[in-house]
Amino acid sequence: MLLGMMGAGKSTVGSLLAARLGWVFVDLDAMIVERVGLSIAEIFARHGEERFRLYEETCLFESLTPSTPTVLALGGGTVERQANRDVLRGQHLIWIDADPEILYKRAKGPDRPLAHAGLANFLERYRRREPLFRELAAFRIDVTTRVPEDIVDQIVRYETNPNLRRS
Ligand code: S3P
Repeated sequence: MLLGMMGAGKSTVGSLLAARLGWVFVDLDAMIVERVGLSIAEIFARHGEERFRLYEETCLFESLTPSTPTVLALGGGTVERQANRDVLRGQHLIWIDADPEILYKRAKGPDRPLAHAGLANFLERYRRREPLFRELAAFRIDVTTRVPEDIVDQIVRYETNPNLRRS
């Protein structure tokens, strides 16, 4: 599973990694959109963040026992709920991270309502989540200056050589 802030590239890296491994790729946000029938921006606008988090929790729990090997990309805020963290502790997690100001610039797409709340709000969320990412992840990959293919190479190298883990 991949975790990290919005803008880190979890979906891009996750789909490339899954293709490399011959695994299925599941994006938690995409699953929520499919289940609810609304875009992420529409869910936030119509129902608010709290309801979005409920949908997110439900989809996370559903995706925990896949029938085939799966790379799952979490949402940036999935780690904020205690119930989610409790089940994530039993999973193998890789933290995709970068300089938070760069993440903020990368995150500003139309379907990321929280990225429109401004830099200070983004940095505050980053500060809150950073220790949670650190606690849950087997290792962290800094993607500030890397292209997705190199990140996938590094993940595969780490996975096949446990001595390289923890950075
Ligand atoms: C969020 C991150 C988004 C999405 C929603 C909330 C967050 O996912 O779940 O907009 O709280 O950081 P990505 O990290 O995949 O962009």
